[in-house]
This record gives sequence, structure tokens and C-alpha cells, in this order.
Amino acid sequence: MTDRKTIIRSVGAYLPAQVMTNDDLSKIVDTTDEWIQQRTGIKQRHIAAEGENTSDLAAAAARKAMENAGITIADIDLIIVATTTPDMTFPATAAVVQQKLGMHHGAAFDIQAVCSGFVYAVATADSYLKNGLGKRALVIGAETASRLLDWTDRTTCVLFGDGAGAAVMELAKPGEERGVLATALRSDGFHWNKLYVDGGVSSTRTIGHVRMEGKEVFKHAVGMITDVVYKVLDDTGHTIEDLDWFVPHQANKRIIDGAGVKLGLPPEKVVVTVDKHANTSAASVPLALNTAVADGRIKRGDLVMIEAMGGGFTWGASLIRW
Ligand code: ACO
Repeated sequence: MTDRKTIIRSVGAYLPAQVMTNDDLSKIVDTTDEWIQQRTGIKQRHIAAEGENTSDLAAAAARKAMENAGITIADIDLIIVATTTPDMTFPATAAVVQQKLGMHHGAAFDIQAVCSGFVYAVATADSYLKNGLGKRALVIGAETASRLLDWTDRTTCVLFGDGAGAAVMELAKPGEERGVLATALRSDGFHWNKLYVDGGVSSTRTIGHVRMEGKEVFKHAVGMITDVVYKVLDDTGHTIEDLDWFVPHQANKRIIDGAGVKLGLPPEKVVVTVDKHANTSAASVPLALNTAVADGRIKRGDLVMIEAMGGGFTWGASLIRW
């Protein structure tokens, strides 16, 4: 294993064209724009078109990330797709993305860690590349979460949206000090029934819908997020004050604010996109990263903390010198 770090060379994103506002939702279920904004901070979400699958969103985000890095698919030898909403039960959505990008070589597989999927995928690509199994990876978070929703259940259907974000990861040049500095991944399966989909191949042979004990998720989220954030800070000898940007999973503005307050983070260092995208599960962190890179907030050399928490429960954080 090399002691060279793995950098995020570029990011990219894709959002489906259709935007659904809270007012649009209030025509389907008994809810209001005011309730949704007050409890979650969400104003709108994007919804994939009929026939537009997770692999389409993922491939579009990947193309953008490769374009931003100035590379082509020939330069990639690993594709990881973090998703909870695969095109099919098998093969992996990553294999379909591989075909859509015209790639015959290398390897492709999915990661299923629900909303923490992108953080898990970054950690996996980091290890894969450092261990010499490949040179450059496309790490994608992509979801068509709208297809898992019960559109008669106002307690869940207002929370989610569709989208994809992607990152090109590669080994840093020798002596280069930037890249992934540390990662902490956690899960505790004893919480699986607080946030889950009530269907599956082996159990019901159906797809199912998202079910959630919202208050329970909320209760655990802030503590779990802050635990892993402190762990990676401790592991690297950094403090909260050193952070330039905090890029959290975008589930709910109140969870993001709660974590920010507990960590003592100034709100201006926190990247928030939940208002525009809602909760896009594994896509939320790379979508937020892409927003902050594209608008010039995240710059080369910045210290960036990404974190996520979701079904399982799974949670994790990664500290990256950009
Ligand atoms: N519109 C209007 N009223 C609603 C809606 C809605 N969309 N949803 C629920 N209500 C009602 C409830 O029926 C209830 O009415 P009642 O008092 O007459 O029974 C009332 O609003 C309050 O409901 P609560 O569930 O107590 O509302 P709460 O303040 O807990 O907010 C929420 C619910 C937003 C889900 C909150 O619990 C939460 O943020 N939980 C975190 C879960 C989360 O973010 N999950 C995302 C996925 S997990 C992840 O990615 C980490």
C-alpha cells in the first residue's frame, strides 16, 4: 500500500429537468409549503422523468465530472455507484453505467449504504486506489428516490428527491499533501427498522416504500454525525476551527443546523442544498460538493469535511484536503 493520498480531482452533477415544489406536493397530499419548509428546510426537489433511470442520472453526472477533470472514460478503471434505487435487482447499476459510458475495461460495482453511500464509496475507492488495484475511479452517488415513495404518506413523500453527483478520484502525485486525510465509517444494524423500505427481493418479492420513524431518526442523527466528525478530526490532529467547509448529507435543515451548533461551526462554513434538492440519499453529498465547487466556495487547498447518516443506521465522515 502506498502512503500517497487519494485526491478528488473533479466533481460533476446531474439533476432531472422536472422540479416539484412544495405547492405542487400540496395538490397530491395534505401538506403545505409552510409545514415542509419549517420542519425540513426543503422548498423543492427534482423528479426523474418516466424512463429516466438511476443509471442515466449517474452516467450524466459522471460525464460532467470527467469533463471537469479533462479526462475520458479511457482514463478510468473503476466505477462505484452508491445507490439505494438500482435500475434492476441485478446487475449492479455501476455495470449499466459502465456500458452507458462505453467502458469495457476495469471494474464496476455498487455500494448500498443508503444515505451514507457516497461516504462509504469514497472510503472504498480510497483503499482500492492506495492498494494499487486501479489508478483512477469514478465515484458516483445516484438516486431515483421518488420511485420508492408512498405518495399518499405525507410524512415521507415530502422529504426526498432525485439526482446524481460524481467525483473523479486518483492517487495524489508523490509529495502532494492533499487528498483524503481520514475516514470513519460506522453502522449499527439494530436501528434498521427506524428507516427502511418495506419490500425486497428475498422478503416480499416487491419493491416496497420508504417507512420511517422520523423522530427516532432525528434523535440519533446529530450524535452519530458529530461522533464520526470528531473521530476524523482526532485522527488527523485537526480541530473544528481548521475546517474551511462542512458538506453534510442533506436530509433536513434542522439536522444540519443541530450538528452545526453541536460542533460549534459557523453557519457560513456549512454547505446547504437541501432547500433545492431535498434528500437525494447517496447523491446528496456529491451534489452539495458540486454546488460549492461550481460556485467557487470550495477551492484547492481547502479543508473539507463530508459526512452522512442514513438507513441501517449507517454513518460516516471523511476529511479531505481539496
Ligand atoms: N405536512 C403537514 N403535516 C404533517 C406532515 C406534512 N408533510 N407530515 C407530518 N405531519 C403532521 C403529523 O401528522 C403530525 O400531526 P398530528 O400532530 O396531528 O399527529 C404533525 O405534523 C407533527 O408530526 P411529527 O412527526 O411530530 O413532526 P416532526 O416535527 O417530528 O417532523 C420530520 C417530522 C420532519 C420527519 C422530523 O421528524 C424529521 O426531520 N425527522 C428526521 C428524519 C429525516 O430527515 N429523514 C430523512 C431520511 S433519514 C436521513 O437521510 C438521515
